[in-house]
Amino acid sequence: MARMSLPKWLMTILAVVAIFVADTTTYYEVAVSVFYAATLLAIEAHLNPRGLWACTAGGLVLILVSFALTAHGDLHAGLVNLIISLCTIVATAYLITKMRAARLAAQQAQSQLIRMTRIQSMEALTVSIAHEINQPLAAIVTSANAGQRWLTQNPPNVTKAHETLERIAADAQRASTIIARIRGLTRGDAPHQAAFDINTALQEILALSKAELDLQDITVSLQLEEALPAAYADKVQVQQVAANLLLNAIDALRCVPPTRRHLQIESSLVGGSFVQISFTDTADGIAPSIKDHLFDAFWTTKKDGIGVGLSLSRTIIDANGGRLWLDEDHHGTGACFRFLVPIAPIAPVA
Ligand SMILES: Nc1ncnc2c1ncn2[C@@H]1O[C@H](COP(=O)(O)OP(=O)(O)OP(=O)(O)O)[C@@H](O)[C@H]1O
Ligand SMILES: [Mg+2]
Repeated sequence: MARMSLPKWLMTILAVVAIFVADTTTYYEVAVSVFYAATLLAIEAHLNPRGLWACTAGGLVLILVSFALTAHGDLHAGLVNLIISLCTIVATAYLITKMRAARLAAQQAQSQLIRMTRIQSMEALTVSIAHEINQPLAAIVTSANAGQRWLTQNPPNVTKAHETLERIAADAQRASTIIARIRGLTRGDAPHQAAFDINTALQEILALSKAELDLQDITVSLQLEEALPAAYADKVQVQQVAANLLLNAIDALRCVPPTRRHLQIESSLVGGSFVQISFTDTADGIAPSIKDHLFDAFWTTKKDGIGVGLSLSRTIIDANGGRLWLDEDHHGTGACFRFLVPIAPIAPVA
C-alpha cells in the first residue's frame, strides 16, 4: 500500500470530523453517516488489510457515538438509518477486500503471462540454436569418421587425419559462432556487419553439404556473377540463411524422382546497391494454400521438421538490411527463394 501524504491525511481527518459533526447535529432522519463509506473508498489505496478494518471499526464507532449524541428527530427513522449506515460501511469494506483479491489475481495472471512469454522465447531460442548448429555438428561427425579411417589405415595417413582434425576444429568454431550470433539476434544486438565476398561464402556452404547432395543425386548449377561488389552483412548469418534454403531444397528434391533433382544457385547485382541470391529447385514447389504460412515460426509440413528455418532466415536477413521472399512469378515446377544483401559502401576517394 502506498503511504498517504500529509495533506491527504489532513483532508481525511477534516472529512471525518465534518461527517461526525453533521451526523450528530442533524436530525435522525438525515443519514449523513453513509459518507464514511465514501471516505473509506477514497483512502482505500493507502490502507493495508489491518488498516482497512481498523478504519471500518472506527467508522462504526463514530456512527454509534453520533447516534447516541443526536437529540432531534424521529428515533424510529434514526434507527433504520443507523442500521443502513452500519451495513453500508461494512459492505464497502467487504467489497474493497474482494476488489483487492481480484486485482491481485489479475496481477498474478499478468506476471504469469510475462513469464510464459519469456519461457516461450527461451524455447524458440533453444530450438533455433539446435536447428542451426545441426549442420556443423553433422559435418564434425563426418570428419571424425573420416579421420578414424585415415588413422586405421596401414600405414596411418597422418597428413589426411591432420586435415580432418583441422576441419573439425573449424566446424566446431563455426557452431560456437552461430550460437553467439543467434543469442545476439534474440537480444536485439546489431549483426557483425563487414564486407565479404558472397560467392565464396556460398561456395563454402555448398562444400559443407556436398556429401548430402551427392547422396541424394542432386545436381547443382552455380550461376555466380563474376566481379560482384563485396556484400556488407554478417557473413556467418548470411551463410546460415543459405544453408537453410539449401536444406529445404534438398528436403523437397528428395520427394521427386532422382532424374528431376536439380538446384540452381545464382548471385547477381541488382539496383546497384544489393546483391541478390536465388535458390531455385525443380521439386513440386509451394502449394498456394501454404504460401501464407511459409515464414511463420514453428510452421512445417514435414514429419520431423521444426518449422523455424524460413522464419529465422527472414529475421536474419531483415536484421542485415536485406529482404527474403518466395518468388511467386518464377516459372517452373519447383520453389524459388530469393534474398537481398546490401553491398559494402564505397569508401570516398581521399
Ligand atoms: N524449397 C521448398 N520446396 C517446397 N516446400 C518448401 C521449400 N522450402 C520450404 N518449404 C515449405 O515451407 C515449410 C517451412 O520451411 P522451414 O524451413 O521454415 O521449416 P521446415 O523446413 O519445415 O523445418 P526446419 O525448422 O527443420 O527447417 C516447409 O515445411 C515446407 O512445407
Ligand atoms: Mg527448413
